[in-house]
Amino acid sequence: MRAFLAMPGNETMAADLAERTSRALIPLETRRFPDGESYVRIVGDVAGLELDIVCTLARPDAQFLSLVFAAAAARELGAARINLVAPYLAYMRQDKRFKPGEAVSSTHFASLLSGLFDELITIDPHLHRRRDLGEIFSIPTRVEHAAALLADWIAAHARAPLVIGPDSESEQWVAAVAKRAGAPHVVLSKTRLGDRRVEVAAPDLSAFAALQPVLIDDIISSGRSMIEAARQIEAQGLSKPYCLAVHALFAEDSYTALQQAMARIVTTDTIAHPSNGISVAELLAAAVRRD
Ligand code: R5P
Repeated sequence: MRAFLAMPGNETMAADLAERTSRALIPLETRRFPDGESYVRIVGDVAGLELDIVCTLARPDAQFLSLVFAAAAARELGAARINLVAPYLAYMRQDKRFKPGEAVSSTHFASLLSGLFDELITIDPHLHRRRDLGEIFSIPTRVEHAAALLADWIAAHARAPLVIGPDSESEQWVAAVAKRAGAPHVVLSKTRLGDRRVEVAAPDLSAFAALQPVLIDDIISSGRSMIEAARQIEAQGLSKPYCLAVHALFAEDSYTALQQAMARIVTTDTIAHPSNGISVAELLAAAVRRD
């Protein structure tokens, strides 16, 4: 028997997955003690179950201990297997020690999750300098990709689109999305100067002046990559771009800033956000069904 359990904020996705896979949803009770510590109670019998804990990991620090307690409690209560369904996987970007003494947090975070769960299911982790999650996780991992969903949204909603990636490292991914959407593509070149500072340079886009620019990226965090890209595109006389992303992190006031820079903003629901317009539920349900 297999069932889902939703960490706080993941109830909608977990209920959707439970319905799509005809599996039970085990209730979880959580609250904060007056001193801020976390209370977690699994309200149901998990003995012998294969349990899929749904927890997207945006802003992980505030929720990580509750997740640890839920997984540990499920294990103590006899769950036969505990998987983590994390539509967004956090802490993937620090994959290298840039300055002496820095924690390579992607490795440490992966090792913590590997100690708690039997398997991880996620969508488009930001691999960057790594080939696959097996380099840092010691448990099996299943990675699903939202590229086709983005492409199909573009084909259905953008008239004469030009698909644009904000940096050259996204070239292959952008090319695949554009090909499926039946659109041309270009990539810009991005230099990161700090957490909230990037410089973006664009090639000559005059051949595409009549097309609707559609910027795509895996993550929007500070929003600076997208905003600088939009600035370069408009400076060349093209229309205000559409902006599509898989993971809607939207740090601080970035969503408001992006709304001014973009004609439309659409994201997948790996992280719940008002910009969500593309559902990944079927991707995740298919991954869960594939035993
Ligand atoms: C970086 O390599 C990623 O693909 C994104 O471009 C980046 O995380 C976006 O960050 P921000 O929104 O802070 O510019």
